[in-house]
Amino acid sequence: MRNVLITGAAGGLGQAMVKKFVDEGDYVFAADLSTEALKNLEVIFPEKVTAIELDVTNSQSVQEAIDSICQNHELHVVVNNAGIQHRDKIEDFPEEKWDLLQNVMLKGPFLITKYVFPYMKKQNYGRIVNISSVHGEMATPEKVAYVAAKHGVIGLTRVAALEGAEYGITVNAVLPGPVKTPLLVKQLDDLVQNEGMSEAEALKAIVYPKQAMERFITAEEIADSVYFISSKHATGITGEMLSVSGGM
Ligand SMILES: NC(=O)c1ccc[n+]([C@@H]2O[C@H](COP(=O)([O-])OP(=O)(O)OC[C@H]3O[C@@H](n4cnc5c(N)ncnc54)[C@H](O)[C@@H]3O)[C@@H](O)[C@H]2O)c1
Repeated sequence: MRNVLITGAAGGLGQAMVKKFVDEGDYVFAADLSTEALKNLEVIFPEKVTAIELDVTNSQSVQEAIDSICQNHELHVVVNNAGIQHRDKIEDFPEEKWDLLQNVMLKGPFLITKYVFPYMKKQNYGRIVNISSVHGEMATPEKVAYVAAKHGVIGLTRVAALEGAEYGITVNAVLPGPVKTPLLVKQLDDLVQNEGMSEAEALKAIVYPKQAMERFITAEEIADSVYFISSKHATGITGEMLSVSGGM
């Protein structure tokens, strides 16, 4: 049994990841902004999940959460999954939204890595999985902060992989394609309501036109890949980007 920390665990992908790790026999510290939404995970998976209140943008919050876990347990796997979206043309993009997206999706994984690395180095074992996106390697208009942050996550992953290697730590990124979670549904709804698009047109605009499989990816498909890349079947893999996008 391994101990696993998943951020953004109350969200669409996060919940699927919690289920996958628990199903595989692991213990999960499920972290999100509020423990309210995590309570049902504790109920569904009794004695397999602990809900943790954690704001990944806040250094003190990150340090306290990691210290509280690591003072009593070894922490084997960390999944940096928390994320948010905001769409606007660059000239209209609010500066505070730029800062927020960078803080949640780039500074957050940096802070978690910074505070978890000393514990993982000491135990000579660690698996860090950073959730980037197909937007870590491609661009869509009006997503400047998201695309920049997700490209940044790839840089963070590569440096952390180099620094972790001699201590038995692997660091990889999973790049999801379109998954129908609240994060994506909100964008679809905005396009339907504000731009007068039909849902089919919104899907075409959001569910990127160049996807070979022409379908949503499921949260379970992402969770399976996150599990795989942190598992004993992936011990030789570090600093890699695993696109789970249906061929984008
Ligand atoms: N859904 C997709 O199509 C898709 C595609 C590519 C990448 N991703 C990435 O997958 C990850 C999960 O996305 P999702 O679709 O499950 O979104 P979601 O909106 O369902 O869940 C995101 C979770 O992150 C949490 N969160 C936000 N700010 C936080 C903070 N400061 N501290 C801690 N938690 C915070 C939210 O409360 C929420 O529970 C994100 O990093 C997202 O960018 C999603």
